[in-house]
Amino acid sequence: MKKIAFLTSGGDSPGMNACLRAIAKTAVYYGIEPYGIRDGYKGMIAGDIFVLGEEEVLHALHLGGTILGTARSEEFKEARFRQKAIGNLKELGIEGLVVIGGDGTFTGATILAKEMQIPVIGIPGTIDNDIYGTDRTIGYDTALNTVVEAIDKIRDTAQSHHRVFFIEVMGRNSGFIALNAAIASGIDLVLIPEQQTDIKEVSRQLVESLAARKSAIVIVAEGDDGGGANELIQKMKEILPDVDMRSTVLGHLQRGGAPSAFDRILATKMGIYAVDLLVSGKTGLMVASKGDILYTIPIEEGIKYKNAPLSLDTSELIKKILSSN
Ligand code: F6P
Repeated sequence: MKKIAFLTSGGDSPGMNACLRAIAKTAVYYGIEPYGIRDGYKGMIAGDIFVLGEEEVLHALHLGGTILGTARSEEFKEARFRQKAIGNLKELGIEGLVVIGGDGTFTGATILAKEMQIPVIGIPGTIDNDIYGTDRTIGYDTALNTVVEAIDKIRDTAQSHHRVFFIEVMGRNSGFIALNAAIASGIDLVLIPEQQTDIKEVSRQLVESLAARKSAIVIVAEGDDGGGANELIQKMKEILPDVDMRSTVLGHLQRGGAPSAFDRILATKMGIYAVDLLVSGKTGLMVASKGDILYTIPIEEGIKYKNAPLSLDTSELIKKILSSN
């Protein structure tokens, strides 16, 4: 193996750069020339592929975002554009590809693994932690800590003004950030896409919290069926018109910032492992973690099943404990 390429795709996540650094350095260690692909699959189609060696990743370990750039490519869903992208890799003599990203990235990688002869390995990088088969995705730990820090700040105002705050966190289909931020922050109520939201029950619990503590915080994942923070406040105002309520949508600040030590370590280990897999002739695999152990599963499995933030038998208990804070 003489040349490999790598890309980041979908939403950026803290730790992606640590991963790129590990891939580039491991490739060089094996005497392989590393190539970066700019802006994910979009850059693969455009042929925006360049040598990204040790020098380029020299100070990247601690940086948030992705130095390669990223995109969500609609074109890549069409076979003719994928053929163009594959042609670009072949023209450069690329013999292995590493893709870092979330579910959209792995959907693309699954198709690529079938359509091209070049081996491909996936690394889970998304703040959502919603990839099946791995207990952690790169960026989730940092995002969770960012959210917990933000909640601590909002709590000051909630308590001082005796208000109810609805804090909306990311997670279109996944409640990992919401649920674990709620556990880490000791908040009153958490609403996640994995469980149906009963508006009347939310109002009942708010009344209870206000009676006990004069303020309350509700964490809501953006994909919750009851709506986001603003929508929920509208609904709640109809039931509790006299309660002082505010919403905070944390938005993209959750995706930025320097990666935590955990994410740097995970990203580095996963990057090294991915190159090792290519060198040993593997393809169509996703790197996954269970505690300190790294292993692989077929890429398509990572998106075929759902990674749930709680098991059904513990969910009721967690909710009960949270709401009786
Ligand atoms: O997939 C990561 C994520 O941050 C989701 O939590 C969120 O719903 C989405 O990306 C936002 O995407 P964009 O930055 O394209 O608006």
